[in-house]
Amino acid sequence: MDSFIIRGPSKLEGSVNISGAKNAMLPLMAAAILTGGKCVLENVPDLKDTETMSELLRGLGVDVEFNNSRLFLDASKIESEEAPYNLVRTMRASIYVLAPLIAKYGHARVSLPGGCAWGPRPIDLHLKGLMALGAKIEIDHGYIEASAKELHGAEIILSVPSVGATVNILMAAVLARGITIIENAAREPEIVNLAEALKQSGAKIDGEESSRIQIEGVREIEPFNFRVIPDRIEAGTFAAAAVITGGKIEIRECEPDHMHSIINKLSECGANIKLFKNGLTVEAPAKIRHAEVETGYYPAFPTDMQAQMMSVLCLADGASSIIEHVYPDRFTHVAELGRLGADINIDGSVAIVNGVERFEGAPVMATDIRASSALILAGLAAHGETKVLRIYHIDRGYERIEEKLVALGADITRISG
Ligand code: EPZ
Repeated sequence: MDSFIIRGPSKLEGSVNISGAKNAMLPLMAAAILTGGKCVLENVPDLKDTETMSELLRGLGVDVEFNNSRLFLDASKIESEEAPYNLVRTMRASIYVLAPLIAKYGHARVSLPGGCAWGPRPIDLHLKGLMALGAKIEIDHGYIEASAKELHGAEIILSVPSVGATVNILMAAVLARGITIIENAAREPEIVNLAEALKQSGAKIDGEESSRIQIEGVREIEPFNFRVIPDRIEAGTFAAAAVITGGKIEIRECEPDHMHSIINKLSECGANIKLFKNGLTVEAPAKIRHAEVETGYYPAFPTDMQAQMMSVLCLADGASSIIEHVYPDRFTHVAELGRLGADINIDGSVAIVNGVERFEGAPVMATDIRASSALILAGLAAHGETKVLRIYHIDRGYERIEEKLVALGADITRISG
């Protein structure tokens, strides 16, 4: 298993180009199944998850080629409707093939995704939504057995604005007979990106930027050629890197309009942030100011930036609080930050972060994509050597991260084994 060796402290300066969004690319790849034809996706990041989803689709009979941030998908010859456990367990987003397979082919057998490092990740809202549209769903030895002669429209009210459930229900509704309403739908930019691609293919969708999405089913949709939006979490991570290292970074090829809650929170911490078309410049304050952070559903502060924000607040001028409303147990990075000298107390879904003077380098263990990036940020600011273990997590969600960091002045090396 690869690790990173980071020698700090370093001050990051220069410019970085942001890659396409993992969480927009994954549903779009699954949506190719709905079209039954040849689709092209642009601005696709070269990630482990890109590879995993490609392998999953190939197992269904989809022809997938990835070349220089372009994905060519040919879904004209689906030969299987089974998504196996060995792939689904490594990437929850595999569940996104469920709806297209049911909607297009009337059957799907998809392994249950299981949990992740910070606890259970239920899919009850996905299954309830698909059943409301007429799918018959059974759980058989760890697999979801789903079938439907024909899907029909329904009014679905989500108890929480689940991204994944919105994705699956939206894709199923596109080919369902009649009108579907999704109330309390997720409003993430990644949902909008998917809806826009489907509309380009002939789907009838309204309200995708709101929490009430209306879909009028059609008989079929055409293949799409679409561009994946920039990754707002990668961009937010580099913004946090500028702040924690006392540097100044120009973050290009991103969409500040998707990042207001992140920009506002880093500004509260004293960062000087200037926006420009498709980018922003983030300059660190002399001393990070403490802040209160509450994660929530978009457009609130994203849970996927919680760990990175915690690393920043560890070096603030006082005590900060972080309340995790989306995944109350998403604190596996706390003990590892403690090994670097952080002073953090957890009480349920609340973390109190007492600012310390500095981090001291030490070996730490990554547990998930975003916790990994938080530990890298802390290692960049730490005095001495930090070894981040199990960085296969980071490779799932950040394209060539060490190259981008070295170009900004970081001393970070990947070591194998
Ligand atoms: C997506 O996961 C993202 N993954 C996650 O990013 C992100 O943290 C999450 O949305 C929240 O923004 C992808 O887009 C591939 P949810 P998802 O369904 O869809 C509860 C990363 O690092 N819930 O919006 O699985 C759930 O427990 C990853 O890129 C149910 O109760 O998240 C959580 O409390 C990590 N039942 C809340 O909803 C369900 O059926 C939000 O989860 C589904 C979800």
